[in-house]
Amino acid sequence: MFITFEGLDFCGKSTQVTLLKEKLEAIGKNVTLIREPGGTQISEKVRKILLDKENSEMHIEAELLLFSASRAQLVREKIVPLLHEGHFVISDRFHDSSIAYQGFGREINLSSVKTIQKFAIGLAIPHLTFFIDLPLEEIDKRREKFGATNLDRIELSENDFYNRVRNGYIEMSMLEKRFITIDGTLSIEEIHNKIIEVVEDWIKNNE
Ligand code: TYD
Repeated sequence: MFITFEGLDFCGKSTQVTLLKEKLEAIGKNVTLIREPGGTQISEKVRKILLDKENSEMHIEAELLLFSASRAQLVREKIVPLLHEGHFVISDRFHDSSIAYQGFGREINLSSVKTIQKFAIGLAIPHLTFFIDLPLEEIDKRREKFGATNLDRIELSENDFYNRVRNGYIEMSMLEKRFITIDGTLSIEEIHNKIIEVVEDWIKNNE
């Protein structure tokens, strides 16, 4: 089974990814966590280029293709073989991040972004995608709390950009059945319980 997590920076994805892994392992599943961009030797190198604050001259088209190149490698080197072995693969971000950030956020032609994603991921389409939604004001508060000094190149973007990204996720969640939107203002435990409910339901119906 392939599960992805999406949302704005600081929405609490990473905490939930770890909690879900622990829960699935406790019921005897093999689980592999992946983070995007990254996850393979080549993809981690691309991640460095993408997030390096010195690369401020990077064009948005190059950014889109680098994210997608990193993902194309990750899918073929890791995700597909793991899924074939029956693993549960959980990815902290996946192709929907490119649609939300580069498509809606950077305003690159949406159908081009989607076509590139299809090419990059092939048949590795997530079974479930959890979108942890938080209003921008809450994101801002968390950003200050977690140290505004250490932001990467993309996290340095303006609020207008993040508004477009969030609205993009909301639009995608209305179009795609695999998207499950979760209110990110709930407690860590409440969010976790909702996620478990959906995943257990999926397992019951598909295994
Ligand atoms: P990261 O430090 O992994 O952020 P997070 O922990 O919030 O996931 O940095 C990833 C950054 O790259 C994040 O700001 C989102 C952005 N991003 C894109 O713009 N497009 C993409 O396709 C992906 C995967 C990430």
